[in-house]
Amino acid sequence: MSLIKAKNLNKSFRIYSQGSGIKGYLKSFVKREYEEIHAVEDLNLEIEEGEMIGYIGSNGAGKSTTVKMLTGILEPSSGLIEVDGRNPHKNRKKNAMHIGVVFGQKTQLWWDLPVKESFKLLREIYEVDEEAYSERIEEFDEVLQISEFWEQPVRKLSLGQKMRCELAAAFLHHPKIVYLDEPTIGLDVAVKERIRDFIRKMNEEKNITVMLTTHDIGDIEDLCDRIVVLDKGKKIYDGALDDLVNRFSSRRLVMEVKRPEEFEIEVKGVNEVKNTDEGLEVVFDRTVITASELMRQILAEYEVLDFQIKEPDIEEVVKKVYNEGI
Ligand SMILES: Nc1ncnc2c1ncn2[C@@H]1O[C@H](COP(=O)(O)OP(=O)(O)OP(=O)(O)O)[C@@H](O)[C@H]1O
Ligand SMILES: [Mg+2]
Repeated sequence: MSLIKAKNLNKSFRIYSQGSGIKGYLKSFVKREYEEIHAVEDLNLEIEEGEMIGYIGSNGAGKSTTVKMLTGILEPSSGLIEVDGRNPHKNRKKNAMHIGVVFGQKTQLWWDLPVKESFKLLREIYEVDEEAYSERIEEFDEVLQISEFWEQPVRKLSLGQKMRCELAAAFLHHPKIVYLDEPTIGLDVAVKERIRDFIRKMNEEKNITVMLTTHDIGDIEDLCDRIVVLDKGKKIYDGALDDLVNRFSSRRLVMEVKRPEEFEIEVKGVNEVKNTDEGLEVVFDRTVITASELMRQILAEYEVLDFQIKEPDIEEVVKKVYNEGI
């Protein structure tokens, strides 16, 4: 049985719409008109225990709305939702005991309390026993290094320090599922690394299921085997990151040849040849021709001084999927 299950899940919001300009604004006093926004539309999703999935899509795609429904904060407009056998909205409190959440833009810690007091409170709330608590804090500290500011009130922490605490807080009670909504937003490379290491460790060692929403392709590349892409509330891709990349991106062979002006190639699978700063770039479809076959054919006719195969650019792939759909 899947740990997270959504079937034909919908969430719409009714918002006031006013015509454009001043006229519309004035008119809206007399007659209010509504507009329906379909934030999540007919979503079907199953996530198994222990998975780490990347939930991606452009701004306004419906990612946070999904997470809010899964955590029980929002009630779906229609459809079925089940998390660990429970309806999250109807069993909000019970659900909360088994999940962890980080909303990158908000804090779940107590602003004026020192970090350690916030954690003591969380220990009480989630009923973590003393021994497990000490063990976990120590273990978390190894990766997140939170003891550096253990005595500081939360409000005095930098963004990166705060986020390290948020992560520790979300995993403190070893929940079954942790939802991370943009946990690396605005962080420097070093802190991102730490946070990614921590998430990976929790997923691998404690088998905690993670649903990760992010605009940072590096997070996805580093952590997620499976991704779900949302576009205007609809799921447009669900599968392996590799498959998506293979389907959407061409490989590139960049080389330095003698007399590049004479270079010409007519081979099936080669889509484009262009001159770049790095040398001649041959764009090819690796489902049609392998790099080695292509190389063999080129070497038969030209003198190649140097070459390299460029990995597909994941960011480019995702952009393409957002723009063009599947
Ligand atoms: N409480 C609300 N009332 C009205 N509309 C809302 C509400 N919450 C979200 N929406 C709308 O629903 C749509 C989806 O929003 P959502 O926050 O889920 O997007 P997102 O994928 O998380 O985007 P982002 O990447 O910018 O965080 C948007 O059009 C948004 O304006
Ligand atoms: Mg969001």
